[in-house]
Amino acid sequence: MEESFEVALTVNGTHRTARVPARRLLSDLLRHDLGLTGTHVGCEHGVCGCCTVLLDGEPIRSCLMFAVTAHGHEITTVEGLAAEDGTPSPVQRAFRECHGLQCGFCTPGFLCTVTALLRETPRPTEEEVLEGISGNLCRCTGYQNIVKAVHRAADLMAGPAGPDPAREGEG
Ligand code: FES
Ligand code: FES
Repeated sequence: MEESFEVALTVNGTHRTARVPARRLLSDLLRHDLGLTGTHVGCEHGVCGCCTVLLDGEPIRSCLMFAVTAHGHEITTVEGLAAEDGTPSPVQRAFRECHGLQCGFCTPGFLCTVTALLRETPRPTEEEVLEGISGNLCRCTGYQNIVKAVHRAADLMAGPAGPDPAREGEG
């Protein structure tokens, strides 16, 4: 009989455990063992980015990591991006407003990637956006609306008034 291991991790703020074979992928743990099917699996080879989740805040491809490696870590999936009351995050709102999705298959991966990107770089340049999403493939949108959505999300995160140009350079 195949040996199995107990994995304990925090997923979207909740402590979760599962008993899995050594070679269970993190993507399979999330989808099959924990029922979090928002994380999509496209290529299963680390190419498409659909399976991107956040590991301790950093985007990773869950199809390239064994579930046991995530033991003790904190995972955020697309299900954990909205507020507790279900209010979409600024990134989710921006993708909807800017039509940054069509079939939606790639979208969970983009949302996680962009969430981490804007945390690191709140006002990315066009080049930084393109670089930031370069590991995520979308076969529907042509990317333009996704890029718009990233800038829109940056605006939303800056608040209703956004940065005040009059105050720039002060301090
Ligand atoms: S499914 Fe993981 S990168 Fe494609
Ligand atoms: S919206 Fe269909 S693959 Fe991106």
